Amino acid sequence: MCGIVGYLGKKNSKEILLSGLKELEYRGYDSAGIAVLQNDKFDSFKAIGKLINLEEKTKEFVTQGFSIGIGHTRWATHGKPTELNAHPHVGSESYVVHNGIIENYAELKKELIADGVTFLSQTDTEVIVHQFEKNLKTSTSAFEAFKKTISEIQGAYATLLVTKSEKETIFFAKNGSPMLVGINDENEKYFASSDTPLIGKCTDVNYFEDGDYGYVTPDELTIFTNEDVKKEPLFTKLSTNKLSAQKDGYRFFMEKEIYEQSSVIADTLLGRLCDDEVLFDELDDALLEGINEIKLCACGTSYHSALTASYLFERYAKIKTTIEVASEFRYRQPIMTKDTLFVVISQSGETADTLETLKMAKAAGLKTLVICNVDNSSMVRLADACVLTRAGVEKGVASTKAFATQVTVFWMMSLYLAKRNNALSSQDIVSQIKLLREIPKSVKVDDEMHERIKRLSKRYLHGHGFFFIGRDVFYPLALEGALKLKEISYLHAEGYPSGEMKHGPIALADPELFTIALLPQHLLYEKAKSNVEELSARDSTICAISSVNFDKADDFIPIKKCSHYMLEFFEMMVVLQVFSLEISIRLGNDVDMPRNLAKSVTVE
Ligand code: AGP
Repeated sequence: MCGIVGYLGKKNSKEILLSGLKELEYRGYDSAGIAVLQNDKFDSFKAIGKLINLEEKTKEFVTQGFSIGIGHTRWATHGKPTELNAHPHVGSESYVVHNGIIENYAELKKELIADGVTFLSQTDTEVIVHQFEKNLKTSTSAFEAFKKTISEIQGAYATLLVTKSEKETIFFAKNGSPMLVGINDENEKYFASSDTPLIGKCTDVNYFEDGDYGYVTPDELTIFTNEDVKKEPLFTKLSTNKLSAQKDGYRFFMEKEIYEQSSVIADTLLGRLCDDEVLFDELDDALLEGINEIKLCACGTSYHSALTASYLFERYAKIKTTIEVASEFRYRQPIMTKDTLFVVISQSGETADTLETLKMAKAAGLKTLVICNVDNSSMVRLADACVLTRAGVEKGVASTKAFATQVTVFWMMSLYLAKRNNALSSQDIVSQIKLLREIPKSVKVDDEMHERIKRLSKRYLHGHGFFFIGRDVFYPLALEGALKLKEISYLHAEGYPSGEMKHGPIALADPELFTIALLPQHLLYEKAKSNVEELSARDSTICAISSVNFDKADDFIPIKKCSHYMLEFFEMMVVLQVFSLEISIRLGNDVDMPRNLAKSVTVE
């Protein structure tokens, strides 16, 4: 996701902006840039790729004395990652950086072009600077022009604007995307998308609220609300510990990442949903022409999302889908036919086994696609096409938000392929797109639910094992729930299809065997319920997760009523993640760095 920094003061603004951007690298980006106004003159630099390229370009550039500057790391949404599309965007005497999406940019751009404005980039952001300069011609001050501009743009934004007509001022506005301003007793002002770039530089920070806009000068910080009422900044002391600041007050990165799922999934959906169709610019005809089968290959959690996809692809897109554990696929001399699209799934894009299968598929002449969270990773560079999941950096070794965004991508992709194959009616596609838009709400962690699980977790610290059971897509979810628990609690846990229990595993049933039962109301409820009743009759301790009350359970974790089983899937996913987290915390384990595990498994 894009990152923003800003600086006003007498120190070396180039270094401050570049080091600030460095701290925002974790958000993911494909290009970067800065613009500095000093001694009446603007200097601006942009580079694609990593920050080192921008550092290289600014090597000779020196800042001394008072200056104002803005910087940006861009994660492309409108327009490819090119230098022209990188921020800051320029007008005739102003520069702007922006994180978010200007929804009405197309109409504003049309009007501006009709007025004779020339656009240099394909971005939505560029309209802000031109609209500002248009308003400047008829306004009494730059602030009036900025205020008018903000009232004219719609969508999500955190934006900073600097202009020659106010050489000691940075204008800001925030709506939907994060931004804060920091101060110290040296009359400096710092802006950033998150607080890490400000640590060690500022003493106090004000987190902007949606609708806030205003300006800073050396002596002033003026904020207005979206109702144009002036308000006092609400300063809080800035932590001096980088690591804890990055955790945003959560106990562990994993916990933070569970709570982040709602916003990262909103990013995953961004620009990919119309009312009646799913858009994937990444999947073109050349990739899909002549494909009769999809083979999904991955490890660990990514394998579980692939298994989920296999249900959705066959059910909705009516395309034959097979899945493979990468470490197995490598050595079993598999038959690969050219009408198969070979898809690898990986959070990191570096997992050795998965990467190797991608190489095998390429060598066999198959078309290849990677679903990945890390741009420019080895798999992204190697595959013919790539869909990025946009989960942001995942630090917890136990994957959470990466899984959530992978499943979101697959659900979207099943509808994309369904439309292509005429496998679903347009009405069905429209109604499922509406459901997709509800995922961010479904994965919001409910405080009451979290508290309930925290209390309940004390009963699940011992025993001789856990079975997580579910049917259909709730089977991969059961596998994922079990994997999460074993990774961070070191307790033995297995995922099973509910219907398989009576074929052997039920022999283990006794009060010391914990069964975590996934009982979705909208998918095979009665069948799954009977399987759980069989276990309950044999005295297994049952913890049921459902929106329908289940009286045979010893413990019950309710989820919200939803209208579709995939929304129940996401609700239950969060419950399972929080359940593992709380058990691990009670056991005193290192949640983020569990023993024996690595975040990126680059060896076989
Ligand atoms: C998930 O919690 C694990 N840490 C692990 O199973 C992981 O999903 C697996 O190693 C694959 O990694 P990848 O998605 O980066 O390829």
